Amino acid sequence: MANWSSPPPAPLLLHLGLLSLLLPALSAAAAIRHGLIRKPSADIPAFREAPAFRNGDACGGGGGGGGRRIHVTMTLDSNYLRGTVAAVLSVLQHATCPEDVEFHFLWARFDRGVLSTIRSTFPGLNFRVYRFDSNRVRGKISKSIRQALDQPLNYARMYLAEIIPQDVKRVIYLDSDLVVVDDIARLWTVDLGGRVLAAPEYCHANFTSYFSGEFWSDPGLARTFEGRRPCYFNTGVMVVDLERWRGGEYTRRMEAWMAVQRRRRIYDLGSMPPFLLVLAGEIKAVDHRWNQHGLGGDNLEGLCRGLHPGPISLLHWSGKGKPWLRLDSRRPCSVDHLWAPYDLFRISSTHSLEG
Ligand SMILES: *[C@@H]1O[C@H](CO)[C@@H](O)[C@H](O)[C@H]1NC(C)=O
Repeated sequence: MANWSSPPPAPLLLHLGLLSLLLPALSAAAAIRHGLIRKPSADIPAFREAPAFRNGDACGGGGGGGGRRIHVTMTLDSNYLRGTVAAVLSVLQHATCPEDVEFHFLWARFDRGVLSTIRSTFPGLNFRVYRFDSNRVRGKISKSIRQALDQPLNYARMYLAEIIPQDVKRVIYLDSDLVVVDDIARLWTVDLGGRVLAAPEYCHANFTSYFSGEFWSDPGLARTFEGRRPCYFNTGVMVVDLERWRGGEYTRRMEAWMAVQRRRRIYDLGSMPPFLLVLAGEIKAVDHRWNQHGLGGDNLEGLCRGLHPGPISLLHWSGKGKPWLRLDSRRPCSVDHLWAPYDLFRISSTHSLEG
């Protein structure tokens, strides 16, 4: 019953407590339109809940703990979330002791939607989240041949020793565009032989091609690798001794190379060349089975590639093409069908308010 002579609605009505009582009566869309609630990030995909993975009897104790804990670190970004979710699922699914695995996620900015997606997709997952302050690399990144490589979060792998708590002495770093198809414990227990980093090495790759003519023609710079036998390694899969890293000057030395790159173009790729400059020839080589890389094709076109011969423990879609994009486009490469079984993506209304 409208009473036109009554005063306008009291401002009290807009009190937050009352607002929450009123909200259910409004359609969600109307609420968003009126700015009453913030629109959730519409670009966060929805995922099915992963099955629970339990430790086998051989794991002992159960629920992980103490020295048996396996620390895995990855970045967390809404753009790559589908890849991250598939990677996490693959690690858990193939681990003999999945409850021993603890994930350390690094993100550039807090995103409630991403966090709740991880929680709801993997209930009971052991994980911690850390902020990577993009200011750390602001002004240090120079343009590479592929824009995706220039994201500050791509450089977070240089700062693991500072970000991850001191009680963690070793960590496996994994990119978000890969799946593990073997027990991650086999990579975790690799003997680093006193080295700071372990990764598959590719000594047949043309190492010269990772740096520019500008680099090799300057005798001062070209001397960088003197006394080493430098080989390419891919920074998407690394076992890092954080204690040793903390005791060295590795981050600072990589930053120094990034400063050189800003003045003179000495390489074309993103965060990988500084790793090569500081560590190539100094790492512990791991069996190639732990990084079947390049499945995304090259950096410019992302053309299809086949598998290299040999046993495989990890498939990595490095390069421009990503399996979820190629599958969605209905023009997948044959290797993309190896990624699909780990895809928990659930097609749903893109404007769903869930999540
Ligand atoms: C290696 O790469 C460099 C620079 O791209 C090139 O000049 C050289 O010919 C290559 N060497 C071989 C053996 O392919």
